[in-house]
Parts: sequence; structure tokens; C-alpha cells
Amino acid sequence: MSLRLSLVRAAAGIRLTAGLLGASYPRDDHTNITGAVLAKVGSDLHQQPNHPICIMATLMRDHFGPLYTYHDALSPVVSPAANFDSLGFEKDHPGRSLSDSYYINKDTMMRTHTSAHQVELLQKGHRNFLVVADVYRRDEIDSTHYPVFHQVEGVRVFDRGNVEAVDSSNLASGPPNASADNPRQACYTTVDSEAVEWHLKASLEGMVRSIFAAAQQAQGIATTQESELKMRWVDGYFPFTSPSYELEVWYEGKWMEVLGCGVIQQHILEQANLHNSVGWAFGIGLERLAMAFFRIPDIRLFWSQDPRFLGQFSAGKVTHFEPFSRYPSCTKDVSFWLPEAKDGEEGFHPNDLFELVRDVAGDLVEDVKLTDSFVHPKTKRESHCYRITYRSMDRNVTNEEINVLQDQVRQLAPERLDVQLR
Ligand code: DAH
Repeated sequence: MSLRLSLVRAAAGIRLTAGLLGASYPRDDHTNITGAVLAKVGSDLHQQPNHPICIMATLMRDHFGPLYTYHDALSPVVSPAANFDSLGFEKDHPGRSLSDSYYINKDTMMRTHTSAHQVELLQKGHRNFLVVADVYRRDEIDSTHYPVFHQVEGVRVFDRGNVEAVDSSNLASGPPNASADNPRQACYTTVDSEAVEWHLKASLEGMVRSIFAAAQQAQGIATTQESELKMRWVDGYFPFTSPSYELEVWYEGKWMEVLGCGVIQQHILEQANLHNSVGWAFGIGLERLAMAFFRIPDIRLFWSQDPRFLGQFSAGKVTHFEPFSRYPSCTKDVSFWLPEAKDGEEGFHPNDLFELVRDVAGDLVEDVKLTDSFVHPKTKRESHCYRITYRSMDRNVTNEEINVLQDQVRQLAPERLDVQLR
């Protein structure tokens, strides 16, 4: 089922309509979601069989097989309780702030990760599952950041004393090691902890290998000793796992982080009355992997309707994107004095400017970079200069049309961000 949400902006509230699931949410002092972002909700790139995002998710689904239930239509509108509290995020975790996350109001937000569904699915009785979904974060603007992206979450739960053994002989790297800084949970026996860590390691190395094999096939590389995938485990930190790890792969001369994972914190399982269980979980971002494997140079391309983009991919295959010529860009600067810091307020955050530019220019903005900042020696006020690069993915833009957008940015910045233009 496709969940299409549309936004009606009214002074009093935000109305989301989603087929029969229509709902109205009152605005409050947390509301920071913009029309530009809500317009993306319901695009469901992960459900379109020939889209690179769906191709990546399907490779993972096929790797894990039917033992794992597959959830690809969960609503992106969640409570902060599901997104943060149920997972054990501290009360002052920066992810909760208005500068990092999109709130509809103080009790309702756009999920920032697929982990928001862990407890809910465990409570519904799922033990082994995958979630694929769109997730939302306020962030920078450049070729690798977009306010909406996609993740796959995986969870596997066993009865204690009955963790499936894995054949570790064909695992390349050593076992992930728990340590004082990244401890095992005292409630589990060493046998259970070790067995889950091995199962986690085998499952995730296996998944990354099968994706990499599909990508190598695309390049026509036969798997030889030299072309073999190098992976390594590094310590991670997540409030909902312990020990926690990240898996990195050696890709084009660098270690690339591909996923976060770990042994599920017992308090998560207990919320679903799983007192005698032990398990692992992982989360993986799809855009970065798809950009690497399909050689897609700009994250905005995933959202393009251009047949020159969409026509290049087909279900089940990893193929290399053939770039089509880029249209010229148009660059504009904006400089301003930041508002003076007031006690107890979050103050200016660059993400506020990025959001404003997205709201005005939509997908015509390619990049926003801070190019200069200094503090005035007398007034002590801080000045920022940002360079905004505008470019369309599918047509020529004129200087006149970009001037109109830039004027709007200049007009809205003092109103919404309390800055003073220079
Ligand atoms: N939710 C994490 C993120 O978005 C990723 C993640 C890490 C998911 C570890 C997990 C996990 O399930 O066990 O960064």
C-alpha cells in the first residue's frame, strides 16, 4: 500500500491526509516541518521495483530470506517516545533537538531512523524482521545529504541457550570483541553473548558480500583473490545495543562505514515481555551504498523523474549509471550577522538556513557551504557568509529565475532566523 500524505497548511495546524489514515495535528512551538519535506512523503522509492533504492533493499531481503518478515509500509509519522525513549536515548541526546529532527508538534515527529519500529514490531510478536523505510533528518546540503533518505533495519531474536550456531570458518575478519568500553550485558551468559555476536557477524558479513558480489557482476569482475572484499569491525556506540559495532568495507582506497549493529539491549526485549531472549539488530543506510555501487554522483538523482535516470535501472540488477550531461550551475552568496545568543534558546543553527533554502528552492539547490565567518572585534557579533549553488538536474536555469529565489532567501532569512543581512 502506498501511503500518500499531503499537507494542508493552516494557521492552526497541519493536516496530513493519507487515504483513510487522515489526521490533523495542532501546531506548537516544536513544529518545524516544511512543505518541501512533506512533499516527499509517500514517494516510496523503496517500493518501486526498478528504482536503485528498491534494488538495494531487495538484495538485502533476498539475502535474509523468508524467515524474516518484511515491513515496507510503516508510517513515517512516529512519536518521540518510539523514536527515542523506547530505545534508551538520553533526555539531552542531540538527535532530539529541533535543529536535527523534523517535528510536526512536540508529540509527533518524522522518524529519524528505522530503529523507531523495533519495539513496536517486537510487541506485535515479530522475532526476525526487516524494515525498509524513508527516514528524515535536518542536515547539510551537498551531493551526499538530503533531508529524506532510506534505511533497512534488521532484528533477529533467539531463546536464551538456543542461539543458532554459525559456521565461522569462511569469515574473513576476526570476531568483534567486547571490551570494558563496549561491554557485554551482564544478564547474558558468555555462551549466549558469544553465540549472538558470531551470528550477527556472519549474517552481516554475508549480506554485504552478497551485495558486493552483485556489484562486481555489474563491473564484469570475476571474483578473484585480489577483488575480494575487505571488511573490518570497529566499535560503535548506540543506546539500544551493547556491545555495538560498525562494519566497514575497503572501497576505492578508503574504509567506508556501511552499517551499525550490536547485541540488543535487554530493556528493549523486555518491553515486549521477552525476558528469556537474546538477539542482534542492525541498521544500514541505502543511499550511500547505492551511490557507491551504481556510481550515482548526486543524491538528488534518486528523486529525479527524468527517464534518462530512471530508465537505466531494472529490478534485481546492479548496473553502472551512465551520467548524462549536467546543466550549468548558478552560484549566489548571502552574508549576515547572527542573532545575539539569548539564555535558554537554541540560537542560530546552520541547519535553519539549509531548511529555508530547501523550502524556497526545493531540488534546485545543490549545495550550501559556509565560506567565511568572523567575529566583529568591537561588537563581538558573529558574521557568516554562505555560498549557495543552484542547479537543476533536468533543465537549464536562468539567472533571472535564480535571482527570484535568492531574493526570497534574503527576504525570509531575517524574518525566520532573526539574522541581519549585511
Ligand atoms: N539507527 C541507527 C542509525 O540510524 C543505526 C543502527 C545502529 C540500527 C545499530 C540498529 C543498530 O538496529 O543495532 O544510525
